[in-house]
Amino acid sequence: MPSSGMIEHELENVTKVYQQGKRTVEAVRGVSLQIASGEFVSIMGPSGSGKSTLLHLLGALDTPTSGRVIFHGRDLQAMSDRERSLLRRTQLGFVFQFFNLLPTLTAVENVTLPLLLAGESRRRSRMRALAGLERVGLLDRADHFPDEMSGGEMQRVAIARALITEPQVVICDEPTGNLDSATGQEILALLSSLPEEGKRSVVMVTHDVHAARFGHRLIHFRDGLIERIETISRSARNAYENVAEPHEDDGIGRNGAEMPCTDSAEAKSEC
Ligand SMILES: Nc1ncnc2c1ncn2[C@@H]1O[C@H](COP(=O)(O)OP(=O)(O)OP(=O)(O)O)[C@@H](O)[C@H]1O
Ligand SMILES: [Mg+2]
Repeated sequence: MPSSGMIEHELENVTKVYQQGKRTVEAVRGVSLQIASGEFVSIMGPSGSGKSTLLHLLGALDTPTSGRVIFHGRDLQAMSDRERSLLRRTQLGFVFQFFNLLPTLTAVENVTLPLLLAGESRRRSRMRALAGLERVGLLDRADHFPDEMSGGEMQRVAIARALITEPQVVICDEPTGNLDSATGQEILALLSSLPEEGKRSVVMVTHDVHAARFGHRLIHFRDGLIERIETISRSARNAYENVAEPHEDDGIGRNGAEMPCTDSAEAKSEC
């Protein structure tokens, strides 16, 4: 359970089973979870454990085999395809490992896309997209094509695009997976500033323990199930945010500072 705030997203005993010929894959095997507005939730787990499947269910990109996914009190499965598509376009933002920018469009044109799809005029879409790029510090790259930008810049454009409709939830699948650690740190700082700004929530899958600790809670996922949930203390989060160039997995920052412990008894005993 989140510690405070309105419940934004809820999973009730959700399963997802894929059928491939005679083979059945139980990707998610009965998950219940609540995510509050203003929360940043990280998810870690081995490859194939069902993390992306879980994000697809939260993001209304897929429907569960059983159980319910509830967003602001509405059961996603009870909506029509059209309603779900509108929800994705207006209330959910997506950020992926490989940025998913359209290569033939400039940065600003990529950011305008969700607004044009929503029927906004070209002129107004461009103005809003430029403001969105300014927010992520990239106004001077507005007319660059993706192959004229660094990985971190492309990811910032992708984040600007995800935020342009002011979504209530930003869903990120390994957003720093393709970035060096210093650039990843910038992207994490940007993502972790989002919940405070608009009460929106961020749900992020990552393979990087350092990145995961930017969250308020860290869900350890295994074999389609929540194995345990760790609460990350405010002081621990601040300390992670202040480490300039993290080194993965060893609990030690590049500046030699010891990384902080989390709130969980298990983690404390490890520290
Ligand atoms: N469309 C699909 N059809 C059939 N099986 C699928 C499909 N999508 C995923 N799976 C299977 O479901 C399981 C969970 O996949 P998922 O992509 O959610 O894992 P993951 O935890 O995100 O892994 P990774 O860390 O490698 O990205 C895997 O065994 C995968 O092969
Ligand atoms: Mg995945």
